[in-house]
Amino acid sequence: MLQVNHIKLSYGPRLILDNVSFTVAPGEKAGLIGVNGAGKSSLLKIVAGLHESDGGTVTLPRSFGYLSQDVAHETPIAAGETVRDFVFTSTGLDKAILAYEELSHKIADAANGNLPTLLEYFDNAQAALERLGYYDADARVEQLINGLNIGGVTLDRTVSTLSGGQKTKLALVRLLFQAPELLLLDEPTNFLDVEAGDWLMEFLESYKGALLIISHDLDLLDRSINKVLRLNEFTHKLEEYRGTYSNYLTVTGDALALMERTKQQQEREISRLRKTSDKLRGFGATRVKQRIAMDKRIASLEVSKPQLPQNSRRIKIDFPVRMPSSHLVVRADHLSKSYGSKEIFSNINFEIERGQRLVIVGLNGAGKTTLLRTLLGITPLNGGKVTMGDRVELGYYAQENEGLDYDNTVLNEATEILPENVKRVRSILGRFLFNGDRVFQKIETLSGGEKTRLALAKMVLAGPNLLVLDEPTTHLDVNSRTIIGEALGSYNGTIITVTHDVDFVRNVNPTTLLLMPEGRIVVYDTKYDDLLERA
Ligand SMILES: Nc1ncnc2c1ncn2[C@@H]1O[C@H](COP(=O)(O)OP(=O)(O)OP(=O)(O)O)[C@@H](O)[C@H]1O
Ligand SMILES: [Mg+2]
Repeated sequence: MLQVNHIKLSYGPRLILDNVSFTVAPGEKAGLIGVNGAGKSSLLKIVAGLHESDGGTVTLPRSFGYLSQDVAHETPIAAGETVRDFVFTSTGLDKAILAYEELSHKIADAANGNLPTLLEYFDNAQAALERLGYYDADARVEQLINGLNIGGVTLDRTVSTLSGGQKTKLALVRLLFQAPELLLLDEPTNFLDVEAGDWLMEFLESYKGALLIISHDLDLLDRSINKVLRLNEFTHKLEEYRGTYSNYLTVTGDALALMERTKQQQEREISRLRKTSDKLRGFGATRVKQRIAMDKRIASLEVSKPQLPQNSRRIKIDFPVRMPSSHLVVRADHLSKSYGSKEIFSNINFEIERGQRLVIVGLNGAGKTTLLRTLLGITPLNGGKVTMGDRVELGYYAQENEGLDYDNTVLNEATEILPENVKRVRSILGRFLFNGDRVFQKIETLSGGEKTRLALAKMVLAGPNLLVLDEPTTHLDVNSRTIIGEALGSYNGTIITVTHDVDFVRNVNPTTLLLMPEGRIVVYDTKYDDLLERA
């Protein structure tokens, strides 16, 4: 049983947690929610013993495992370690295997007199392996790797050769393999495609141990939890509600969030109906009636979708373009990329013109990030050529905060973009909710959502005419996601983005989609929303 009592936390003069107490019983599943910067991650770190509080106590169950929101920066990995070793260290299985192997060597070389003792040790070592589930361990790891869709990762791969995204997922695999009594997860679905996210939800739903999870993923909160803990950003206290997230919304009358949720559910229903209707089309006349009925239902759902109020904005931003680029922005000729013997994509050809908004769609591992990085010349190609148009000024939003210098302060990081105009720097930072002393905060200590906001603020300051965005809405709470989406919607430069956030796509209002890994360009239509969601 996890017991948290009277936790207090302030950062300097800022109060974050005021007397926070709660429990998570064995097998109980609790979702920790709250806006960006409310203090969720801080609380989880205190629970995991990684962060000191200013008062209060935490009692943990015998075994627990923690996954940080910023895994890529926080999970140490020994150089040269294989995937298998990395995962096995979580339960001590690696040591048990080593001990077993050493003993078998010793036995082979031993003089007869020593044998009885050695054999006894050997029995113990064997029992330890059995207890740790050695005999199906590889299979279990592989199952987890498949579930999370970490394409092409074998147990013998060296961990340091994996991509950032793959490492993040592997850290999750390691934790799930460990199967502790209590799982502490900080936004684990951020870097999962929808398929892997679904798999994780199911996994967590049937997980035997207890769960304390932070997420902005409303679906996950509905399916996998039975208690909501809301960190109130105004009172800094924790409010507790029994039941799912939907239930929480009904009880608290959080009208806006409830509308958001209803809209999402209806959109899912619409896309499901559309798919069926399309299938029925294949049957010709025999299914016409059914199809008409279905199309009617779709139309009525479309009409009844709640309209979210326009005035609940907290930040309003626009992305100015300092100077337009030439007509042709990017041309890709016969691009191909492999990692070792694994082909990621080949013979990709397209042209992007000024003002075009292109969304790249494809499953995890289809090479979306790789394609972006090769376009920008960060990752070398194996073949083909990328031509950038004249006067193209690039703004790049990288996954996992690659573009931020963690040692810098918010103000310094932003000033480096526009040193000649500190006033504008402060004003834009303010729009992204970095006010007063907050601009002197070190980037390392920003919350997940705040890091994303800073990265976007930097892009606004630079005034680029080409935005290349890799999952720009992960980490953002629902409200900020809409605001950023709308800001990009009125941007009049060129956009190339990877995302599987359908609402965001609607706001950005793309002109074209690029389907990976085949590299086909299609004109955007809402009928692709389903595809987007699965990507
Ligand atoms: N060492 C620190 N010094 C000053 N402020 C800090 C420090 N660490 C965190 N903060 C601030 O405390 C607040 C809470 O941070 P935390 O990471 O817990 O938020 P969160 O609820 O997880 O947000 P998100 O949804 O964006 O991940 C944030 O505003 C953050 O900037
Ligand atoms: Mg956080």
